[in-house]
Formats: sequence, structure tokens, C-alpha cells
Amino acid sequence: MADNAANTQIMTVVVTGASGRTGSRVAQAARAAGLTVRAASRAQGFDWEDPTTWARTLRDADAAYLMYPSDVGSPAAVEGIGALAREAVGLGVRRLVMLSARGEEQALATEEALKASGADWTVVRATWFAQNFSEGPLVEGLSHGELVFPAGEVKEPFVDVRDIADVVVAVLTAGERYVGRTVELTGPRLLSFREAVAEISAATGTKLTYTPVPARAYGETLTGFGVPPEEAEFLVEVFEGLLDGRNAHLTDGVRQVLGREPRDFADFVREAAAAGTWKG
Ligand SMILES: NC(=O)c1ccc[n+]([C@@H]2O[C@H](COP(=O)([O-])OP(=O)(O)OC[C@H]3O[C@@H](n4cnc5c(N)ncnc54)[C@H](OP(=O)(O)O)[C@@H]3O)[C@@H](O)[C@H]2O)c1
Repeated sequence: MADNAANTQIMTVVVTGASGRTGSRVAQAARAAGLTVRAASRAQGFDWEDPTTWARTLRDADAAYLMYPSDVGSPAAVEGIGALAREAVGLGVRRLVMLSARGEEQALATEEALKASGADWTVVRATWFAQNFSEGPLVEGLSHGELVFPAGEVKEPFVDVRDIADVVVAVLTAGERYVGRTVELTGPRLLSFREAVAEISAATGTKLTYTPVPARAYGETLTGFGVPPEEAEFLVEVFEGLLDGRNAHLTDGVRQVLGREPRDFADFVREAAAAGTWKG
């Protein structure tokens, strides 16, 4: 315990995606735990697509939180995570915690690339974020009254990104305990996208609808919005797999690591509505 406490005092953690949904909360939780945070996104000169920017970000740090932009299962993520993890280990930054996606088969290769680097790794596999409804591409549809998405009536255990961040920091400050382990995180309740939208509708007092569409039709919409065809095709494959019901079960990763229950979707909705999210 004393060792962990001492570690906490001195630990500098590189937080990739620090301006994004998970990274911003990881940075916040890490600072609250007394860690020194080195934010790493393009604003700080760190670019996943430019390996010459990696060493100066990593040097002299003790650990890193790795999230790959866009999608953890993309071919670029397999390459990028593997190469950066090897470089980090070479620089003595051995403790790496990576965000992955539960049920996404394409993400397994990225997890393997991390493990093969020789790092002291932990994989944090999360399910669909609650904050997908409040930050990111789904918000625009909701602000116009309709969410069009290829999730059918499947149930998801939406997880709050603040719980992901709390777990990442707990894992980082727990000494060796989570080294070489995969932690799976879900929220406490299964909800369909239709039910999730209905909860947002009730909390905001506005009429919001959910319209399920086939993944392929959704991919065509993405292409229409300028997403490159190969990227849209990749996302179609990911959605077809991920949203087939395989994630319709709860796991107790949050309770195991944090000793408390995960935040409920209703709490997220109440807070986001009070903050003015979804006001068209
Ligand atoms: N959405 C979900 O439900 C879900 C569930 C499980 C796992 N995941 C995984 O979570 C990851 C996304 O995490 P997130 O939602 O926290 O991220 P996010 O909110 O989409 O933010 C992306 C972050 O990456 C940075 N970034 C973008 N391009 C970059 C580049 N070329 N080099 C360096 N930084 C770059 C962005 O900052 P700048 O633009 O300032 O550089 C931003 O901080 C993906 O790997 C996804 O597969 C998502």
C-alpha cells in the first residue's frame, strides 16, 4: 500500500486522446488521484500518424493510457498501437493501459499487438458509451429529433465514460495487480437504443424518435457525408458484428476494480439534460 501511495505521488502518465470522450475524463481522474498528466493529442504535437512525434511525448513518463482514434479495431490501430507500444517499452515506459471494445472481433488483433510489445499491459474493454448520445456523431440526429442507427432492437449495457476513466486510473495506481489482465466494463442495465432515446426524450421533454436501419444503408449514409468508402465499409462490418446481441449481458468489472456499482444511464441522462445537451 505504501509503495502504491509513493508511486501515485511520482507517476507521470501520458494520456492519448486527452481532448476526447474518454481521454479528457482519464486526465481529470488522474489529476484528482495526484498523478501528473501529459496530455497527448494533435494540439500537443502528438500524432498517431506521425511516429516521429511519439518519443518526445513518451520520454520520462511512467505510464500511458492508449486510445486509438476512430476505431480500436481498424488496421491502422493494429499497426499504430503495436509500434507505439514497442517504442514506449524501448524508452522505459512499460506500464500501458489500452482502451478496447468488448465484443469487437477486429479489436483482438490490436490487443495482441499491445501484448506482443513486451509492455506491462492492461486491456480495458468497454461496451457502447452512454456519452455517444451526448458527445460525437449521434448528437446531431438527436438535436433534430431523430436518431437513425443500425442497432435494431438489440440491448446494450451502456457504460459511462467516467467509470472507464475511474477504472483506468485505479488500474494505473494499483501496482502490479492488473498487469497482464483484461478488464471488461459495462453499465448496470441493459437498454435498447429505442429505450435509451425514450429516456432522453422524457428527461428533455422533447419528442425524440429512434429509427433502426440496416448497417449497409447506414454505411451508404456515411459515405454520403464524406466518410471514405473503405472506412464506411469497415464500420459496417464492425456494427454488423457488434450490434448482433453479443453484448447484451452485464459484467461486473466496474465493481471488481472500484468496489462500487457503475453509474446508471438515467444518471447520465439527467446530468446531460441539466447541462443543456440536446437543446436543438
Ligand atoms: N464509442 C464507443 O462506444 C466505444 C466503445 C468502446 C471502445 N471505443 C473505442 O474508443 C476509441 C475512441 O475513444 P474516445 O471516444 O475517447 O475518442 P474521441 O472522443 O473520438 O476523441 C478522439 C481523440 O483522439 C485525438 N486524435 C484524433 N486523431 C488523432 C491523431 N491522428 N493523433 C493523435 N490524436 C488524435 C483527438 O484529439 P485531436 O483531434 O485534438 O488530435 C481526440 O482527443 C476508439 O478506439 C473506439 O474504438 C469506443
